[in-house]
Amino acid sequence: MPRPANTQHATRNTKVPHLVRLLLAWFSQNARDLPWRRTHDPYGIWVSEIMLQQTQVKTVIPYWERWMRELPTIAALAKANPDAIHKLWEGLGYYTRVRNMQKAAQDIVTKGQIGVNAHPHPGPLPRGEGETLERFRKTRCDETQSSAYEFPERFEDVLALPGIGRYTAGAICSIAFNQPTPILDGNVIRVLTRVFGIGENPREKNTNAQLWNLAEQLVIHATRDTRHASPASHLNQSLMELGALICTPRDPKCLICPISKHCFAFQNNRVSDFPNLDKRPAATARRFAAFVVEHRGSFLVRQRPAGVVNAHLWEFPNVELNGAPIEPAAAAHEVLGFVPKDLKAFCTIKHSITRYRITVEAFRTSATNRKSASLSRWLSLAELHKLSFPSAHKKILKSITVEEQHRPR
Ligand code: ADE
Repeated sequence: MPRPANTQHATRNTKVPHLVRLLLAWFSQNARDLPWRRTHDPYGIWVSEIMLQQTQVKTVIPYWERWMRELPTIAALAKANPDAIHKLWEGLGYYTRVRNMQKAAQDIVTKGQIGVNAHPHPGPLPRGEGETLERFRKTRCDETQSSAYEFPERFEDVLALPGIGRYTAGAICSIAFNQPTPILDGNVIRVLTRVFGIGENPREKNTNAQLWNLAEQLVIHATRDTRHASPASHLNQSLMELGALICTPRDPKCLICPISKHCFAFQNNRVSDFPNLDKRPAATARRFAAFVVEHRGSFLVRQRPAGVVNAHLWEFPNVELNGAPIEPAAAAHEVLGFVPKDLKAFCTIKHSITRYRITVEAFRTSATNRKSASLSRWLSLAELHKLSFPSAHKKILKSITVEEQHRPR
């Protein structure tokens, strides 16, 4: 169990006050205008933090905006159809995240807390030139107060929700409630190991604890800045922002970094030595054969069962080839239970996720009847477009759609 976030430490690093001052000043001038920075709604901030796990900011923006339009409150998420939430998440991957979010929303609703800090997302405001983020957020918050299910405010209660670990709880409590709860993710690890010259592996237990401690010292020190309305929020976001924009893994922009004067790695010309992470294992190639089977305008698809990767999503019947050369007829027999007469190569899809380089060879054929197994269905193209598919199968669906549009009638 992580320690409570507001423990004071006997030995404060002497760099901390300088770093806090410079980071807050830099963030006030350089923060990106991201849609979730236009709200104080803890629900919207929670959604953004979950989407941003493993996913880049530019990818998340349209997903977050659509999600907040369609499910603007905790209550809306709690009662949403599981198919609808998977569809809103389609393409982001790691679908356990979305199921955990719904479970968490249902827990909050079941506990039945009604509060004032749950304001439905108001939609974007144009950001005027020179307008500070702070003034901007104040307006949004005051405009949108309304009663609804309340997102928990205590760090321990946030941490207890499904799918929320120490980083995400710290991010939500600091950004939404300005609590001095530290954050430590890949970006923050990079910044802190470089600034403080921490050469040990940051995943090692003691080093990791040392990094959390430094992150905590920084955010606690920030709250001393009484001129600032949200110092804990902005200090943590400044670390995220610096890691994303300046202190990048490759080609960091040290010459414009606001804290380079205090950075051990920069001052010692050793930026590329930090962080000291294990080399990633090389990606594994995986090959699949998939079958687009049509019967009078309907296509055979199946739903992935619970407990497997991409559970609940739909896919074209397929099999993993395990390094063997493709034998389409044999693969079709294994997957479909029959060998189609008119099997044709249709498209090749390449897709990379985490440590896998996936190739899917898709074949097209027609069936003489609509026999199907459990979890399988025959559906029209329009119906298929309402379902959620893993990315590779979404690309197959796109190819079918394009082909159908160009088919002579
Ligand atoms: N990465 C993780 N959380 C973030 C946030 N709130 N803003 C920008 N990037 C992030």
